[in-house]
Amino acid sequence: MMRPTTRLLIAALLAMMAAACEPGRANGPDNFIGDARRGTDLVKQYHCGSCHDIPGIAGADGNVGPPLHRIGTRTYIAGYIQNSPDSMADWIEDPQRALPGNAMPRMGIPQKDARDIAALLYTLK
Ligand code: HEC
Repeated sequence: MMRPTTRLLIAALLAMMAAACEPGRANGPDNFIGDARRGTDLVKQYHCGSCHDIPGIAGADGNVGPPLHRIGTRTYIAGYIQNSPDSMADWIEDPQRALPGNAMPRMGIPQKDARDIAALLYTLK
């Protein structure tokens, strides 16, 4: 018979192993909100670069909105919203809900995609 503490220890170890294998969690702090690698593909797919200059994304040299250089360390999003991984994901999911009337259109981006894109943006420091 296993002692309860042994069982707890094994459960904790299994949980840690599962967390380490979770996609998007394996690559350190930049990926804590989503999968930054997937975010790179999504940024191309949603053509964020037609309006933004985004470092590391080929062809992303738009100048409709602000450049996203070092956006991962910016204090405010759009000058109003305290920057955090969650508020960044909310912004991408629906900028009109986040800050009604601003110039970035709602693009109908699902929450999961928004979080992966936020993870990518947080690698820009
Ligand atoms: C049609 C043009 C357009 C598209 C497409 C667009 N944006 Fe924007 N975006 C804007 C504008 C304009 C602003 C500035 C809003 C403001 O500050 O009021 C903005 C602001 C932002 C900001 C805040 C920047 C800052 O300096 O505070 C982020 C982050 C951002 N967009 C990310 C994205 C991402 C990611 C995508 C693709 C999913 C995207 N945008 C697609 C026009 C666009």
